[in-house]
Amino acid sequence: MDKLLIQGGVPLKGEVRISGAKNAALPIMCAALLSRSPLRLTNVPHLRDVTTLLNLLGGMGVAVSLDEKLGLELDAGRLRSPFAPYEMVKTMRASILVLGPLLARCGEARVSLPGGCAIGQRPVDLHIKGLQAMGADIRVEHGYIIARAQRLKGARIFSDLVTVTGTENLMMAACLADGVTFIENAAREPEVVDLANCLKAMGANIEGAGSDVITIKGVSALAGAEHRIMPDRIETGTFLVAAAASGGSVRLRNTSARILEAVVDKLREAGAKITAEDDTIALHMEGPPTSVNVRTAPYPAFPTDMQAQFMALDCIARGTAVLTETIFENRFMHALELQRLGADIEISGNAAVVKGVAQLDGATVMATDLRASASLVIAGLVARGETVVERIYHLDRGYECIEEKLSQLGARIKRVH
Ligand code: EPZ
Repeated sequence: MDKLLIQGGVPLKGEVRISGAKNAALPIMCAALLSRSPLRLTNVPHLRDVTTLLNLLGGMGVAVSLDEKLGLELDAGRLRSPFAPYEMVKTMRASILVLGPLLARCGEARVSLPGGCAIGQRPVDLHIKGLQAMGADIRVEHGYIIARAQRLKGARIFSDLVTVTGTENLMMAACLADGVTFIENAAREPEVVDLANCLKAMGANIEGAGSDVITIKGVSALAGAEHRIMPDRIETGTFLVAAAASGGSVRLRNTSARILEAVVDKLREAGAKITAEDDTIALHMEGPPTSVNVRTAPYPAFPTDMQAQFMALDCIARGTAVLTETIFENRFMHALELQRLGADIEISGNAAVVKGVAQLDGATVMATDLRASASLVIAGLVARGETVVERIYHLDRGYECIEEKLSQLGARIKRVH
């Protein structure tokens, strides 16, 4: 298994390009299933999760081609089997995003229930409930979701919880339904808006994406389209936190401050100087950060995917911080590893109390999930001496060439196989 060796203590300086958003690319690639004509995508990040989904779509009969500029073309003109096997789904939960499109396009789907993962049980009951409201006959047998529908019907769906992929699955299914669908208490994440923009380019009739009520008027078919994936706001936030924690000065290109305002506000509260033009963000940090409290919640509030990174920042900040995780039931695994580096963290229920310490000391730590891995890398960048981060396959799922980008900023980091 690969690991990362990091020599801490170097302030990050310089400029990097932010990649396309993983959590926009995954649903948008699934949207290709809705059309008989090709969907052409640019700014697709080269991540393990993207490769996994390409293999899954390929297995269904989607023709996949990559051009010399790394543009991706997905042609679902001749779908063979609306089937997502356990072996593929268990490695990437976001595979559930094929359910809505397959049901809408083929009238049937057999999709493995995604397992839970390190951060929580991750049920998909709201996805199923919404599709049933649209007239689908859905049974769960031997770990598979078996879904059938002659043609889905428009429905008024109220989602008990805000669910990002639930909103995306239902929005995609509703595009080809007979009638109008209202998704109430919908997720407002920018990635939902990016998916809606791609679907509209394919001919879908969608209003209200980005608000908590999305209206979709079903059409008989969708066409092909070209779409550029939006920037990854979590990669952006991760690099901003790494620069702030290391007392550095960085410029991030091909991104935007508008999609992570809650994170930018918190970094300013921690003492960072942040300026933003149209597609770049610059951060400058003098001295140690001030402790900041965070409370995760659905967009536009502070994102749960940035909680682990801020915990690393608070570990070496002046003061005491409380981080409250309201989305997932087990998203503090990184705290146990940060303690190995000398962090002072007390967990009680869904709150973590972090007392800033003057210095962390390098050690060997183990990544447990994607954003926890990022948190450990940030801690390693500021710890005294060498930190070894094991099981970094978690990191490769969501960050494109992270050690190359960090090395570009002066970090002393290398991957060993
Ligand atoms: C998406 O996951 C993201 N993944 C996650 O990013 C992100 O952390 C999460 O949204 C929250 O922002 C992708 O977009 C591919 P949810 P998702 O459904 O859609 C409960 C990363 O690091 N729930 O919004 O699976 C659920 O248990 C990943 O890139 C139900 O109870 O999350 C959770 O408590 C990690 N029933 C809450 O809702 C359901 O049917 C929010 O989950 C669905 C969700």
